[in-house]
Amino acid sequence: MEIEISSCEHLMYVSEIQQEMYDSAQRRGTGIAKRSIEYLSKKISEGNAVVATENGEWVGFCYIETWSHGKFVANSGLIVSPKFRNGGVATQIKHRVFQLSREKYPEAKVFGLTTGLAVMKINSDLGYKPVIYSELTQDEEFWSGCKNCVNYEILMKKERKNCLCTAMLFVPENITKNEAVNDQPKDKYDEISQTGLGYSAQNSPGEFHLAINKNKKNSDEKEGHLSV
Ligand SMILES: CC(C)(COP(=O)(O)OP(=O)(O)OC[C@H]1O[C@@H](n2cnc3c(N)ncnc32)[C@H](O)[C@@H]1OP(=O)(O)O)[C@@H](O)C(=O)NCCC(=O)NCCS
Repeated sequence: MEIEISSCEHLMYVSEIQQEMYDSAQRRGTGIAKRSIEYLSKKISEGNAVVATENGEWVGFCYIETWSHGKFVANSGLIVSPKFRNGGVATQIKHRVFQLSREKYPEAKVFGLTTGLAVMKINSDLGYKPVIYSELTQDEEFWSGCKNCVNYEILMKKERKNCLCTAMLFVPENITKNEAVNDQPKDKYDEISQTGLGYSAQNSPGEFHLAINKNKKNSDEKEGHLSV
């Protein structure tokens, strides 16, 4: 399997990706922001997405969005083709798109809003922590993306303070602080830090999980509007 930063070569998969996003949301009974072909195509052609493929077949997808003038980044639209699920694909895509987000926006906080346990697990492994909604971007455009969700009324009733989705946030400064406290030499985590994930391997419990996952899933090495 290949997991790559998107380019124009991946535009041929855009209809399939959009359709699967829609179908999966229907099956889950959740609402998601409608992603137009144009919007997804732009993400793909500008290199703001990660695409997984196998022998020319589309496997999975996720893209980057920025809010509050780049102060916040969300990795959105995570979707894995049904026949490739439960094999660690989403985990790999999310790690890759997180790495890309950290490279492109090293100062930004990375966040997600999700009801999905799989995504919560992956985010947690990456170092995200659960937070209340006021910790997230207050960019109106982001929240207007919730309008298509079946739970939008609940969000409004709660004055946008909470809803059914769990908010999760990765704060780069926390990692820097941890690094300052703990400057032990790197050892078994060296391999992970060399992957360029851009956050402290020795201090993040998530990193340890990543090390385990890499072994367990034998990764090929080649990751609402539910912003995952
Ligand atoms: C959610 C989704 C992306 C997961 O993809 P995947 O490739 O099957 O996920 P992975 O195999 O990497 O699994 C990651 C973890 O989540 C767990 N998991 C996977 N699917 C799960 C599910 N439906 N419910 C609970 N846990 C799940 C896995 O066991 C794994 O946990 P582990 O690391 O403790 O073993 C995929 O099912 C999908 O595309 N669903 C439809 C779209 C969607 O829900 N997107 C997320 C929007 S928030």
